[in-house]
Amino acid sequence: MTEPNQPDEPAESGPPPWRPDTVAIRAGRTPGDRSLAPVVWATSTFVTGSVDEGRRMATSTGSTQFYSRYGNPTVGAFESAIAELEGAEAARAFASGMGAVSGVVLGLCSAGDHVVTQHQLYAGTQLLFQAVCPRFGIDVTFVDATDPDAWEAAVVPGRTTLVFAETPANPRLDLVDLERLGGIRGPVTAVDSTFATPLGQRPHDHGVDLVVHSATKAIGGHNDATLGVVAGSRELLDWIWGFAVLQGANASPHDAAAGLRGVRTRGDRRERQTSTAARLADVLAADDRVVEVRYPGLTSHPQHELARRQMRLPGGLLTFDVGSAEAGARFVEATRICQLATSLGGPETLVTHPASTTHVNLLPEELAAAGITPGTVRLSVGLEDPDDLVRDLLEALAAATG
Ligand SMILES: Cc1ncc(COP(=O)(O)O)c(C=O)c1O
Repeated sequence: MTEPNQPDEPAESGPPPWRPDTVAIRAGRTPGDRSLAPVVWATSTFVTGSVDEGRRMATSTGSTQFYSRYGNPTVGAFESAIAELEGAEAARAFASGMGAVSGVVLGLCSAGDHVVTQHQLYAGTQLLFQAVCPRFGIDVTFVDATDPDAWEAAVVPGRTTLVFAETPANPRLDLVDLERLGGIRGPVTAVDSTFATPLGQRPHDHGVDLVVHSATKAIGGHNDATLGVVAGSRELLDWIWGFAVLQGANASPHDAAAGLRGVRTRGDRRERQTSTAARLADVLAADDRVVEVRYPGLTSHPQHELARRQMRLPGGLLTFDVGSAEAGARFVEATRICQLATSLGGPETLVTHPASTTHVNLLPEELAAAGITPGTVRLSVGLEDPDDLVRDLLEALAAATG
């Protein structure tokens, strides 16, 4: 059984106390803006008024009209919108979610440092921690995301620089207790909040230092932009900016404009995707051919209570197990409306078979630690008619398990 929505809390982003859906419409605008839609500053460079002005912009962080790798007004508008929605002081946009993740990790950590993260991660992030960090002399400890005691226990005082969590985690929607994570003192704490979006949860309110998103997903929301973003204190963002400018994974103004459009319409898309996902989760949970359904809104989700405490809505993603690798592959090829594609959060319902695609590079023991079985199927629920989606899933189930 899915449960009704929690009431929305008013946003804390200053008077008047707008609720998040209103902040999403108003955020990232500059007083005096005459264009309602974002203006795309499609330029790599800007004319500098004088040598003094050029020197000032070349030596200060976050200049938005110097050179677009440093900053760009369209990108800056997207960054302000995300900072405001997350209740953070500042944000930096990147060319992708992985740009943002690697910007945080490599921007903050040096050889000899130690990072704590979780087994249950998006596979690209997992590879960064597992294969890239050791090459740079950064030690990484992986813990079970769902064990609230494990995080603090793994911190090595004086050596752990970063604690990096992902919640809800890709693909099985395991949750990390944000209150406990935000209470860890010493290292910088960061949360990849891609699955929730800023309208689904606000890790910063729980004391988490940095919030990371792949805005390619539900923030952009239309599968037409590749974009990432990190929000946090100005001090931490200035530090990350110093690396990001050299990393060169800066967001394009076109993608930032698409990201802003996505921010404006996210509230409505989120409501619709959540209500359809809840309905599909109920249908699948009641079907004997499905071994297990994972959806934070289901009372059977082992962390359902935590989801209710820290998420405004359980979201539009769900994962289920159809029993075997063969059934999983047959299922994702049998759907007619749900399309087989790697991404999430857009208007089209997408279906993936993680063991053969997104997580194909993981070893069997790593798949087991992440809870991904051969029959795991992930569904990113779009905006189609819920009745059509129910029929599509039931027909595909019959084809896969019949
Ligand atoms: C939770 C999460 N974080 C980060 C990423 C990486 O984002 P991008 O593909 O925009 O680099 C993904 C991609 O699926 C993801 O699911």
